[in-house]
Amino acid sequence: MKKITAPAIKARKGGEKITMITAYDEPSARIADRAGADIILVGDSVANVVLGREDTLAMTVDEMVYHTAAVMTAEPSSLVVGDMPWLSYHTTPENAVDNAGRLVRDGGAGAVKLEGGRKRLDVVNAVLDAEIPVMGHLGLTPQSVHAMGGYRVQGKQAAAAYELITDARALAEAGVFAIVLEGVPDVLAEMVTAEIAVPTIGIGAGAGCDGQVLVFHDVLGLHDKRTAKFVRQYANIADVAVEALERFFADVRSGSFPGDDETYHMPEESAEILRELNSGDLGGAGLATDSFLADEAMEQ
Ligand code: KIV
Repeated sequence: MKKITAPAIKARKGGEKITMITAYDEPSARIADRAGADIILVGDSVANVVLGREDTLAMTVDEMVYHTAAVMTAEPSSLVVGDMPWLSYHTTPENAVDNAGRLVRDGGAGAVKLEGGRKRLDVVNAVLDAEIPVMGHLGLTPQSVHAMGGYRVQGKQAAAAYELITDARALAEAGVFAIVLEGVPDVLAEMVTAEIAVPTIGIGAGAGCDGQVLVFHDVLGLHDKRTAKFVRQYANIADVAVEALERFFADVRSGSFPGDDETYHMPEESAEILRELNSGDLGGAGLATDSFLADEAMEQ
């Protein structure tokens, strides 16, 4: 399959809906790629769904590079977007370029995502100027959890909604290749989508966006925590996994695991020598056969 690029995603504006899912390691990236994800986001939501944290704020560039590199090991044809963690692009544009560069150079990402609108334009311009494609993220931006006073739907009032449209316009004009719209009313998402020339990718933003993204662990039911209203869970892997482990433990307790075909064997004549050796019948005479026996056992 041909590798999907940021310009190719941008060209999908208004066409077939864009599919995006998070992944944080090689197995999840392989699954996402096999299922046909256009974009794999190595999201800082790894903090919530893998590391069990309340928010994403403690994620570091090193950790995001580590997870991005793990995803790239799967060699997905999906475009891999590395999420820039909090404070990796909030100080200076130079610092932001260095950190975005690490996600690309050390992690292997084909693009980066960062949260915020006009406030981050200098950073967006600097990263774009370094030839790194940028995905924007507006609305409920989890790195602003304290500033927002919690994880709240954004843009419910006309004035705030208009600010968001202005932010989206500014990001699109700066040259981002797509914008994630998270936790906003559907009417607002539809207006942004109609207004800008780059694809919008919704999460809790209604059906009017150019694409949709959800978190891997939420879609597959890999955890048993409460999820947001916008999550549709397509499987309950956690229950399947618990049931499988219960059966494994039961087999261990009953002695039915491991079975004969899950066990390595030794030729009967070697076993006989070993028994004699162990019972002292051969004294030290058989000791030279020790390594031979070990090698043989490994080969069975
Ligand atoms: O970190 C993440 O997973 C995200 C998505 C929810 C868009 O930013």
